[in-house]
Amino acid sequence: MTQQSSTITESSNDGVNTASDLTSLKQRQAQHVFYTWSAQNQATPIPISGGQGAFFYGESGERWFDFESQVFNCNLGHQDSRVIEAIKAQADQLACAHPAAVFEAKAKLGELLAQVSPGDINKFFLCLSGAEAIENAYKIARLLTGRKKVIARRRSYHGASMGALSLTGDPRRRPFEPGLWGVLRAEDPYCYRCPYGLKPDSCALQCATSIEHIIEMEGPETIAAIFAEGVTGSNGGFIPPPDYWPKLREICDKYGILLIADEVFSGFGRTGKWFAVDHWNVVPDMITMAKGVTSGYAPLGVLGIRQSLAKRFNDEILWCGLTSYAHPISCATAVATIQAYQEDNLIENAKEQGEYLRKQLASWSTYSWYGHSRCLGLFGTLEFADHCTEEALLALKKSLYEHKIHILLKGRLLFITPPLCIKRTELQEGLDLILNCVQQHLT
Ligand SMILES: Cc1ncc(COP(=O)(O)O)c(C=O)c1O
Repeated sequence: MTQQSSTITESSNDGVNTASDLTSLKQRQAQHVFYTWSAQNQATPIPISGGQGAFFYGESGERWFDFESQVFNCNLGHQDSRVIEAIKAQADQLACAHPAAVFEAKAKLGELLAQVSPGDINKFFLCLSGAEAIENAYKIARLLTGRKKVIARRRSYHGASMGALSLTGDPRRRPFEPGLWGVLRAEDPYCYRCPYGLKPDSCALQCATSIEHIIEMEGPETIAAIFAEGVTGSNGGFIPPPDYWPKLREICDKYGILLIADEVFSGFGRTGKWFAVDHWNVVPDMITMAKGVTSGYAPLGVLGIRQSLAKRFNDEILWCGLTSYAHPISCATAVATIQAYQEDNLIENAKEQGEYLRKQLASWSTYSWYGHSRCLGLFGTLEFADHCTEEALLALKKSLYEHKIHILLKGRLLFITPPLCIKRTELQEGLDLILNCVQQHLT
């Protein structure tokens, strides 16, 4: 049975909170609702009461730079009235529908996704999150190939459900091991710290070619798919060398293995193209999408599949489904979001502002705390030098928070990913603030 928080006089943790403590929104919320990925007493709450464009507003209306686009999803920027109106109109007309329902927003979304997706990717499975898109990609890869093993990379994140976590290489997987059977690990295109210890001028693309060795040793007839993020997201913003994705395509074609690009993070303009793989003109067999597809205004995950593969399910059963499949509000939100990207040329803006961001980050290389920076579109990653201590990085994190910059600092990696609508002056102002904070805390 739940209790009204305002009537509780003691917290369940330590018994010292008073009724007046609990009047604050943060405390009321924390009483009954979990924070994710955190010990509850160590969570960093993000106060939010509204927003506009590249900014959101805190509890009492103070302005925050959204340099993480909430959680890398608010690509369009905050409170876009076109999307809000589309949500209202859809809710007024049809707010709940069976997965097999036929309605305008669903048909239109399919058309728009086919328009912006690479090559002949033109059939879409609509779910609720990036993790679900990955789960369904895994299932469909097994249905299509009859094979069970998959290859995924070491420094990767594919979502928090059990299947997606099993594909994930980063430490979020560890508490849940063993996960899915048959996930083989490949090295990442982490050129700054090449896993083979090579410098860029001696790179022979070992991170890609070694995959062929894995395939041959395991038996190509056992491997269904390779999963790889277009540009690695929260594990380091690795931008692969130009020949990397074409090489993956070549290997997959050679062995009849499906190539699955996880574009949950890098899709919908984040890198200055609709999808990161567009930079290398590669058409994967499947693409997983989420985040920017609705800019976070409603939950949606999408799995895009090439026409030639999708047609198998014209006669065979697609053993995949969800109660909230193709939710009307999510479909209408995605339609309005994609149209807004197109109307405002936001993919082009991401490219232009991203080039500026790249140059700005590179210009910081004279500072002793600078390790490396990489940037594609509005996806910048700054890697601090090895001598920067944990203590100093923690102080920097606090300082960024106190200066009202919402940004992800994870270990030595600072991810700079503002909404794609950001203006040059806003970007510059935010970067100046970040530089100030870094200068204060790192040497
Ligand atoms: C590359 C990538 N794939 C999948 C996911 C999982 O998406 P979701 O959190 O919507 O399930 C994420 C989330 O951050 C991601 O960055």
